[in-house]
Amino acid sequence: MESLKGKKALVTGGNSGIGYAAAKELIAQGAEVIITGRRADAVKQAAAELGATGLVADQGKVSAIEELAGQVTKKFGKIDILFINAGVLGGAAIESAREEDFDYVMNVNFKGAYFTLSRFIPILNDGASVVFLSSNVAHINSANSSMYTSSKAAINSVMRIAAAELAPRKIRVNAVSPGPTQTEILNKLGLDEAARKGLDDWMISKIPLRKIGSAEDVAKLVAYFCGDSASFITGAELVIDGGFSL
Ligand SMILES: NC(=O)c1ccc[n+]([C@@H]2O[C@H](COP(=O)([O-])OP(=O)(O)OC[C@H]3O[C@@H](n4cnc5c(N)ncnc54)[C@H](OP(=O)(O)O)[C@@H]3O)[C@@H](O)[C@H]2O)c1
Repeated sequence: MESLKGKKALVTGGNSGIGYAAAKELIAQGAEVIITGRRADAVKQAAAELGATGLVADQGKVSAIEELAGQVTKKFGKIDILFINAGVLGGAAIESAREEDFDYVMNVNFKGAYFTLSRFIPILNDGASVVFLSSNVAHINSANSSMYTSSKAAINSVMRIAAAELAPRKIRVNAVSPGPTQTEILNKLGLDEAARKGLDDWMISKIPLRKIGSAEDVAKLVAYFCGDSASFITGAELVIDGGFSL
């Protein structure tokens, strides 16, 4: 069903995981899509597989975000869908926190997401849809997760304020908050196979629906927020976690 036909979309962190699945879903629904990522080879390969345009941009740097906004304007003019998805995991107990870990997580998940919205507002069409990729952890508050969790809680707050600021232009701003989802993000933690399996088993034991989510499930929810069916929804966060946060 081509319900997003004619829409132009930017997906940050679209070379992998949820961003890749969302780009695929948006394209399947008729949108033209630009994806970004850090790794040039992965961006190039994903763009070719998806039939998207791929641009390398470090979403943690404001100068790179501004350069990206310029490139997107050249390619598309204004856009209708902004999916702010790029993110990283990291952190430690508050007592042993290191500044470099704090900056690593916050620069991408919070500062980068914030300035991606900020610098793209001028090139959003009236009536556009912005979706932030948050996380169910913003409602869970586990020990040793303070940096990642607070980066996502901060984004939820920005999402609601942006919804209020952009409503006069009929731009809707929402957030999708997945629980554990099968993507590369956990493989980037450097765990060995046994530890990785142990983590999966522990997560499944905490999820009432007893499975880890798929990137495709999350992608469908992102596309829902971008379409006409969600035309009266703004400032909302939808948790998709199999009941984990219950
Ligand atoms: N998977 C989960 O369980 C889960 C649950 C809740 C929320 N989330 C959130 O979902 C989002 C997507 O994560 P994922 O699970 O799909 O993980 P993923 O497969 O690791 O994808 C993350 C994407 O973000 C990109 N990225 C990271 N840092 C970047 C930067 N500085 N500049 C540009 N791109 C950057 C990565 O690009 P490179 O590959 O080039 O680095 C990659 O495309 C994140 O915001 C994450 O916090 C994930």
